Amino acid sequence: DMALISRKGSALVREIHEKQKRDKSRQRFWELAGSKLGDILGVEKSVDEIDADTVVVGEDGEVDFKGKVRFSQHLAVSDFTKSKTISQQRQNLPIFSVRDELLQVVRENQVVVIIGETGSGKTTQLTQYLYEYGYTVNGIIGCTQPRRVAAMSVAKRVSEEMETELGDKVGYAIRFEDATGPSTVIKYMTDGVLLRETLKDPDLEKYSIILMDEAHERSLDTDVLFGILKKVVARRRDFKLIVTSATLNGEKFSNFFGGIPIFHIPGRTFRVQICYSKTPCEDYVEAAIKQAMTIHITGAPGDMLIFLTGQDEIEATCYALSERMEQLISSTKQPVPKLLILPIYSQLPADLQTKIFQKAEDGARKCIVATNIAETSLTIDGIFYVIDTGYGKMKVYNHRMGMDALQVFPISRASADQRAGRAGRTGPGTCYRLYTENAYENEMLQSPVPEIQRTNLGNVVLLLKSLKIQNLLDFDFMDPPPQDNILNSMYQLWLLGALNDVGDLMDLGRKMVKFPLDPALAKLLLMGEQLECLNEVLTIVSMLSVPSVFFRPKDREAESDAAREKFFVPESDHLTLLNVYQQWKANEYRGDWCNDHFLQVKGLYKAREVRSQLLDILKTLKIPLTYCGPDWDVVRKTICSAYFHNAAMLKGIGQYVNCRNRMPCNLHPTSALHGLGYTPDYVVYHEAILTTKEYMQCVTAVEPHWLAELGPMFFSV
Ligand code: CDP
Ligand code: MG
Repeated sequence: DMALISRKGSALVREIHEKQKRDKSRQRFWELAGSKLGDILGVEKSVDEIDADTVVVGEDGEVDFKGKVRFSQHLAVSDFTKSKTISQQRQNLPIFSVRDELLQVVRENQVVVIIGETGSGKTTQLTQYLYEYGYTVNGIIGCTQPRRVAAMSVAKRVSEEMETELGDKVGYAIRFEDATGPSTVIKYMTDGVLLRETLKDPDLEKYSIILMDEAHERSLDTDVLFGILKKVVARRRDFKLIVTSATLNGEKFSNFFGGIPIFHIPGRTFRVQICYSKTPCEDYVEAAIKQAMTIHITGAPGDMLIFLTGQDEIEATCYALSERMEQLISSTKQPVPKLLILPIYSQLPADLQTKIFQKAEDGARKCIVATNIAETSLTIDGIFYVIDTGYGKMKVYNHRMGMDALQVFPISRASADQRAGRAGRTGPGTCYRLYTENAYENEMLQSPVPEIQRTNLGNVVLLLKSLKIQNLLDFDFMDPPPQDNILNSMYQLWLLGALNDVGDLMDLGRKMVKFPLDPALAKLLLMGEQLECLNEVLTIVSMLSVPSVFFRPKDREAESDAAREKFFVPESDHLTLLNVYQQWKANEYRGDWCNDHFLQVKGLYKAREVRSQLLDILKTLKIPLTYCGPDWDVVRKTICSAYFHNAAMLKGIGQYVNCRNRMPCNLHPTSALHGLGYTPDYVVYHEAILTTKEYMQCVTAVEPHWLAELGPMFFSV
């Protein structure tokens, strides 16, 4: 049942998108999204004369009032924590009661596993205890996180607790962003950042201790780190490793390191009542909204957390919730308690992300609408209700498309239990599972499939090869990836020219690994060197490394589309990006210029920063910048040389098929190539995306003889 539902997706989300298109008058809402979202939903204060029993949440999700309605009095849960100082808060965490025992196990063992519920204080406290105990005398403390958001927000929190500026004693590093300094002794970073550091410093000499946090997530980079750190542990007696996990799979980690001690932080969680859906729900988005409204109207005080799968669903849900709140407000004379609706997903700008931690004002209820980001890596206090749709997105290698794609899957039982647990941190809570008990027992997997077993391993292969690991099938993986995955990734690297016929690293591959980029983008840069248009290609790669810079506000689509079209270079979306950047530069990198042209200022700044970091790497490799001038044909040829594996040929009007596997793929509606007046016979694309159809994202027209010249393994004249 669950698999079937996940494939269908939510009709409500589609409906809301349609509606948003039609309903222009409501779109100011989206301008206010995030910051003022809550403000426009609420009214002055809560009431207690409304009788909950008479509220009916109808089949269509509309709230219907029959006579007098009673709202439950809603206390702000934040009252519980309001007056505590930071040091009192620290001492209140479960981990504090075992501080000395913890330090003792760490002292007596080189490697330990620490298990503790989410919110027990592992991420924020352990590093500080180690620091206070003196582990930073001969090196620094590193703490890895699978998610960037967590690395940033936790570093910020710890810097506050230690009363130091972020980037001073406490800092963080994520790809393309390093907020650490010479005095940093506690460094939070993504696991990917630490993995790349092992390339330069295989023994990680600057660290005295590494905490591998959130190990239960089993991210690709964490799994590779396990194998690498095991070697570091064997080589450096002065090095310590702590593995932390929020779930009870400690044995697996312990066995991997030869049976090391497992330390349990005593839990302090409250009972969570689980309510299952009686029948499989056809549209879990719709069901989640209904459940949220029911809780808000009839439930006792306490904030709410809804788990959905991604940005689209989250935005649609926030929209629908606010709409239903407005209906509610206009259909009754009674004041309605405020609902502070806050979205959280990884692509949400950082300043909006931190809003989920803010306390709702007195009398208001907070409703956080989240992806599985809120499952374990972020702790939000005051949640009494969890609505679990039972789904999440996972990156999975899609054989048909020949690439990784994010797809919706039923979650595992372990994840479901984690989600439920979020409701029991501040007091006894309730978790509404929008799936049947039978689905939980019989359809869900025990624990999620580790990422290493389901995604493309291109970067990992490249990295391990450059760490001189000859035979990847021999690498010490906790759960080895399927051999097919390894071979397939090696094949792609061979196509790019990174590996030779026997699978050894070529010169090109050795250079590619120096860049924190996907193999194809790294190759694009290095081909820019060969074909002497590195400056131009560098800009394109930087622009491809940040989220889209085109801004398309919901009520000004036509206007923003027109602005975008002015930048079009009709043969190429890549060149369009180059054009945008160059014009921005010609306008002194001005912010107001971006606003005038419907470009995201922050995105462009980020691209500029990425560019300068890549430039630094090029400098250390002594690769000089070359310019091609105004003739951009050579840039297209360079793009062709790095992307010939993503070539497509015309097969009908606007219809392309992938040259290798004949899979149909379409020009995206936003592509600059629509302005060409004709459709070129051959194109290459940056990536395929799967939405309603398979679309090619970022497309460039190429000459067929380039394909023959640059990709002889596929193409002949
Ligand atoms: O890592 P673990 O899940 O065990 O807990 P943690 O992230 O160290 O969080 C411990 C406590 O710190 C939480 O209960 C929050 O109250 C607080 N915290 C916070 O206020 N802001 C953050 N960004 C992170 C944690
Ligand atoms: Mg944590």
